[in-house]
Amino acid sequence: MKTPVPDYLDEVLDGLRGDTSGATADYIPELAEADPERLGMAITTTLGRTYAAGDADTEFTIQSISKPFAYAAAIIDRGLDRVLGAVGVEPSGEAFDELSLEGGTHRPKNPMINAGAITAHSLLVGAQASQEERVERALAFFSRLAGRQLRVDERVCASELGSAHRNLAIAYMLRNYGILDGDVPSVVEGYTRQCSILVTVRDLSVMAATLATGGVQPVTGERLLDPAVARHVMAVMAGAGMYDAAGDWLTRVGIPAKSGVAGGIVGVLPDRVGIGTFSPRLDSHGNSRRGRLAFERLSRDMGMHLF
Ligand code: DON
Repeated sequence: MKTPVPDYLDEVLDGLRGDTSGATADYIPELAEADPERLGMAITTTLGRTYAAGDADTEFTIQSISKPFAYAAAIIDRGLDRVLGAVGVEPSGEAFDELSLEGGTHRPKNPMINAGAITAHSLLVGAQASQEERVERALAFFSRLAGRQLRVDERVCASELGSAHRNLAIAYMLRNYGILDGDVPSVVEGYTRQCSILVTVRDLSVMAATLATGGVQPVTGERLLDPAVARHVMAVMAGAGMYDAAGDWLTRVGIPAKSGVAGGIVGVLPDRVGIGTFSPRLDSHGNSRRGRLAFERLSRDMGMHLF
């Protein structure tokens, strides 16, 4: 793999500005208002050096990019067997907001879709944990991964909660099947607050670089995950992180990744780099359009395809 040279990332971003296809997410009113021209990218090496370009310090809500990191925290808190008892690891081949439960067990197919992520959130800390404790766990863990104190965007959270009928319906189905315990509206609220944590592409690249090292935050040097947990999470991202576009992404881009509806994408190349991109217009799968193009270009130019 080559090393990014000065101005290379700026050139990549400039090459994308002409693409105005796609649209901001409209089912969360506050996200529909985002400036669609924002564009940023950051790459952090496993030695902790970050290269950034464009709107690299603009904050946006993490949304579904929270899913792999909250899943990791749930595994740390409850053990892999307990988590696998509730959520599978198979690609669903369906959109992120489909129910996608396994026949027989009724486990959500994977933790990257909403059903699996709501379940993983419910497992944080311990069986009797309150919503506040689960949210604080996610916020504290993400902050250590990013190497700075993060915060929740309460406006975006309230905006999503005002129309969270679909996630509530999913969670009630999971409650019915005994996959989810506790008070459904409170679990969905905690999950939505987790999705409303504000990050920048710099944060995402450092968080992903922590997976790339096998669990050591490369700037602070703190071990945050066991290597086996980091590997498990990266493998699930590779198989299911881009939802029903996962196979297309893995063949074309070849970098395990996770997208969010605010327009972020996080990517991780084991033993090499973490990558974050941000551009709010989404394609029909709910993945950032320019983010995808940026990843395709990096993969091609810098020999980042895993295979
Ligand atoms: O639960 C939701 O629908 C949102 N909070 C997150 C969805 C999301 O980011 C899908 N990803 N592209």
